[in-house]
Amino acid sequence: MRMSSNIHSLVSSYHLWLLGLGASLILLGSFSHLSNLGSYGYSGEIEEQPTPKNLPSKNFGSPPILAYSISGSDGDGQRIMRLLKAIYHPRNQYLLLLDEAASDYERARLAASVHSERTFQEFGNVNVAGKSYVINKRGISAVTAMLHGAALLLKLNEYWDWFTALSVFDYPLLTQDDVLYAFTRVPRNLNFVQFANNSRGNEEWQKNANQIVVDTNLFLSNNGPVFSVVGKRETPKAFKLYNGSPWMMLSREFIEHCVIGWDNLPRKLLMYLTNTVDPLESYFHTILCNSPEFQNTTVNNDLSYNIKDPGAGTDQISRLDMESLEKVPSRGGIFARSLRAGDSTLDEIDKAILNRQGHMFVPGKWCMSTGLNESSKTRENLYSTGNDIDSVKPGPNGVQFKKFLSEVTKDEKSLSTICNSVAQIRSK
Ligand SMILES: *[C@@H]1O[C@H](CO)[C@@H](O)[C@H](O)[C@H]1NC(C)=O
Ligand SMILES: *[C@@H]1O[C@H](CO)[C@@H](O)[C@H](O)[C@H]1NC(C)=O
Ligand SMILES: *[C@@H]1O[C@H](CO)[C@@H](O)[C@H](O)[C@H]1NC(C)=O
Repeated sequence: MRMSSNIHSLVSSYHLWLLGLGASLILLGSFSHLSNLGSYGYSGEIEEQPTPKNLPSKNFGSPPILAYSISGSDGDGQRIMRLLKAIYHPRNQYLLLLDEAASDYERARLAASVHSERTFQEFGNVNVAGKSYVINKRGISAVTAMLHGAALLLKLNEYWDWFTALSVFDYPLLTQDDVLYAFTRVPRNLNFVQFANNSRGNEEWQKNANQIVVDTNLFLSNNGPVFSVVGKRETPKAFKLYNGSPWMMLSREFIEHCVIGWDNLPRKLLMYLTNTVDPLESYFHTILCNSPEFQNTTVNNDLSYNIKDPGAGTDQISRLDMESLEKVPSRGGIFARSLRAGDSTLDEIDKAILNRQGHMFVPGKWCMSTGLNESSKTRENLYSTGNDIDSVKPGPNGVQFKKFLSEVTKDEKSLSTICNSVAQIRSK
């Protein structure tokens, strides 16, 4: 019986609780209890949101529904809100996560900011995770955090089509109207993942695969390092190991396979990668290419654009030519990385590409007539339930991006050869 009580205490200390808008109300009324946030936990439960009055259509020909998680750390509340507004559309689902380094107060403030936007309330599609975990982005804790975000989004909404995990270092180069428009005709089972396919990328990872590391964030309560231990191990033989970029856009079907599927590879691989550095660069790639039902669904593109010149180190990003940045979506990049807090590039993207002003949303068909103009008396109209959230109006960049997407997804044959044509991590 001792055993079972241990297990019980493990489960109840797993204070996963989600601040839906309802729960943030509780918070707002209870600032004096903030030091005791965990006691509002719904251990392992998610607070269900009130059903929004305006549900997105899932008819044939409707734009897809995207699920985004946005994660940040201590002091990132404002940046999360900024990114949220830059990628907001009433069709989509959003989950905001602050990691353990952020204080409970900051988490509550983020929830309060979400609560204070009537649009979020109206469409009921923005959630704040009430409790987060320690993460090291080079360790397995980064994979578990991403799976956790995906699992919460699966639970929150049964309709979304694709999942993308973003952090405060990402910023869009397209409006959501553009993105939703471009993805409307894309088969919903496709996964956008970039594989490494050159000797440098693969060899580096080969070393990683053989080096045994420990991610202390799995068992300590403060953010900690990933450290190497003495000794090496062999490259796996039971499955083929692949690697690539840590950014991706994954289909709902594939996320279900990884989070709640019957196949054992997602679990086995998670355990194997527990002692590997940079597992986020391999976990999903490896499952995709080792699963017959998914290996033909891979588009070899992570939809992201690295602004920072790898040679530039941590120096400030050189000023970008907005004209060339505007052209990035026509080559597949819809998110720019890695943008630091206060980088002037963010303002320039807002101005030149997204047409976003101040603290407002990016203009879109759903709020075309009103609302984006703070000084306008008709701002309230934005929040009325009459908005059309099923049609989108793309700009020229969205049209270009759609062209790109049709090009890379049109040939099913070539999608089915990607896993065989990219380099895998081979045992020596
Ligand atoms: C994937 O593509 C290959 C090669 O075109 C084909 O032989 C195989 O049956 C496909 N698998 C699935 C599950 O469609
Ligand atoms: C905002 O609305 C006001 C009043 O309707 C108008 O005078 C102003 O030009 C608008 N500003 C923008 C940027 O549309
Ligand atoms: C990977 O590289 C090989 C050799 O350079 C090339 O033949 C193959 O087409 C590449 N695969 C992809 C998907 O780019």
